[in-house]
Amino acid sequence: MLKRSLTAALLLFVVGASLASADDRQFRLSVPAVLAESGLMKYMLPRFTLKTQVRVELVSPGEAAEVAFGDTGTPVFTGMGQTWSIDVLAPEHAGASRFASWITDKTGQSAISGFKIDGNQPFALPVEEEEVAEDQFYEGDKLRGQQVSRVHCGRCHVTARGDEGLGIGSTPSFFALRSFEDWDVRFSSFYVLKPHGAFTQIEDVTEPFPEDLPSPIAPLELTLDDIDAILAYVASIEPAALGAPLTGQ
Ligand code: HEC
Repeated sequence: MLKRSLTAALLLFVVGASLASADDRQFRLSVPAVLAESGLMKYMLPRFTLKTQVRVELVSPGEAAEVAFGDTGTPVFTGMGQTWSIDVLAPEHAGASRFASWITDKTGQSAISGFKIDGNQPFALPVEEEEVAEDQFYEGDKLRGQQVSRVHCGRCHVTARGDEGLGIGSTPSFFALRSFEDWDVRFSSFYVLKPHGAFTQIEDVTEPFPEDLPSPIAPLELTLDDIDAILAYVASIEPAALGAPLTGQ
């Protein structure tokens, strides 16, 4: 009995040792103190290990490591007031390169954005990637959206660069509206927001104008597809510089 469990223990030890010496199932990750103390590593790394069976040993900057988080390499997330990059110091190390591809794929990215402290999300993906994602999120036809905007909304709004001479000066341009955090909410519901309700009909959505209150101007008649197209177009335009006056061009 005793002999058997000793053999088992010995076997485990040998297996463990051979895994460690194979070395591609474990690597050292250099992490600056602020990042180590943030809690992100404790949240993120077990997810990586669970998925890949590769273990990660945290070391301090300056110590020998296969991978480092810091200022150099490929930007992978932002937080604690800076952009964090990953630098693969040993690209031939299977575990290390596995980690580098994991952190930029979907599971890695959700392990970063899923980390919360008191309901806040201290780390986010690098900004460029978020903007691309937002642009792709809208499935409408962007080009058609641009045309629909110019024809229908361009009676009052400046809807594209080069059209600054069109529109009504006191009406906010699409660039100004795009700079609102909740621009998508406003553009999805513009037909109930003032002043549009009085002159806008969305097929299968809005009620006909009341008989005693006909549209004061040639009515704006659109479909939900048109609105999707407008959203896709507006997602792609550049917001007006923050702090620029809302009205006018
Ligand atoms: C007849 C003129 C006119 C037309 C046509 C028009 N708008 Fe507007 N729109 C306005 C004015 C004026 C405002 C500013 C209202 C305000 O500041 O209270 C506005 C505001 C908006 C806002 C911001 C609303 C808010 O409360 O935040 C959105 C979004 C918008 N328009 C989208 C559109 C879209 C999309 C179209 C075309 C499908 C369109 N508008 C057509 C005059 C117009």
